[in-house]
Amino acid sequence: MSADLIDGKAFAGQVRARVAAQVARLKEVHGITPGLAVVLLGEDPASQVYVRNKGKQTAEAGMASFEHKLPAETTEADLLVLLDALNADSAVHGILVQLPLPPHIDENLVVGRIDPAKDVDGFHISNVGLLATGQKAMVPCTPLGCLMMLRDRHGDLSGMNAVVVGRSNIVGKPMAQLLLRDSCTVTIAHSRTREIEALCRGADILVAAVGRPEMITADWVKPGATVIDVGINRIPAPEKGAGKTRLVGDVHFESAAAVAGAITPVPGGVGPMTIACLLANTLTACCRANG
Ligand code: GUN
Repeated sequence: MSADLIDGKAFAGQVRARVAAQVARLKEVHGITPGLAVVLLGEDPASQVYVRNKGKQTAEAGMASFEHKLPAETTEADLLVLLDALNADSAVHGILVQLPLPPHIDENLVVGRIDPAKDVDGFHISNVGLLATGQKAMVPCTPLGCLMMLRDRHGDLSGMNAVVVGRSNIVGKPMAQLLLRDSCTVTIAHSRTREIEALCRGADILVAAVGRPEMITADWVKPGATVIDVGINRIPAPEKGAGKTRLVGDVHFESAAAVAGAITPVPGGVGPMTIACLLANTLTACCRANG
C-alpha cells in the first residue's frame, strides 16, 4: 500500500467532539437542547444497528434522542400522524425516518411529510432543490461526510476532475451536487456508462457508491487519486470459518491502495462520518429554529 489512509473514524470523532462542545454551549447560554427523533419500522437487523448507534451517539453529544420503534405493519396513515406530531414538537429539531420502509408505505410521501427545516437527512424535495440551486439546504449526511474528508485532504477542490460512480438519490446525486458547488468538474458514472474504467482513471477524486463489492480495482484508479469508498457490503469469508462474513467496500482496497494517493478504508472510512454529520445537521437545524 502506498496511499495515505483517510481515517474516517478519527475524523468523525473530531466532528462529534466539536458538535458536543457547541451543544454544551447552547445549553449553558440559551437553555436549549437539540433533539433528534428517529423513526424505525420493523426489525431489519442492519437498520436496528444503525438506529442503536445513532441513539447512543446522539446522547453522547448531549442531545435529546427520541426513538420511535414501530411494528413493520404500521399503516402509512399512522406514520404520517406521528410525523405531524414530530413536526409540531418544539423539542424535536431533527427527524429521520430510517429507510428502506416496508413495501406498503410510499417512501416519497413519507419523506415529503417531514418539515424541510427538520429534514436532517436532506431527502425532502425542498432540500434537494435548494442544494441543486446553490441555496442553504440540509445536505444528506453521507455525501457531506465525504466532502468534509476531501476538503480536509485537499483544501480547495476547484478544478479537480471528480467521478462519482453511482446515481442514487441518497449518495450519488447529492455528492455530485456538492462537488460541483466546490467547483470540481463532475461526472456521474453508472451501470450503463461506456468505458467506465477509463473514465474513472481520469479522476482526481473518485467516489464509489454503487453497492457492488470490490468492483473498482487498481485499473480504475489514476495514480495519486483520492478514492472515497461509500460501499458497505457483507460478503462470505470462508477463511474466517464456515458461515462467517466480512465487510468490504465498492473498491478493492488492497489493489486500489497501491495506486491511489489517499483512500478511505471499509469499515472505518465514510461510515462513521455519516452519523457525525447527522449530529452536525441536527445542531444546524436547532440553531436555525432558534434564530
Ligand atoms: N438507511 C441507510 N442509510 C440511511 C440514511 O442515511 N438515512 C436514512 N433515513 N435511512 C438510511
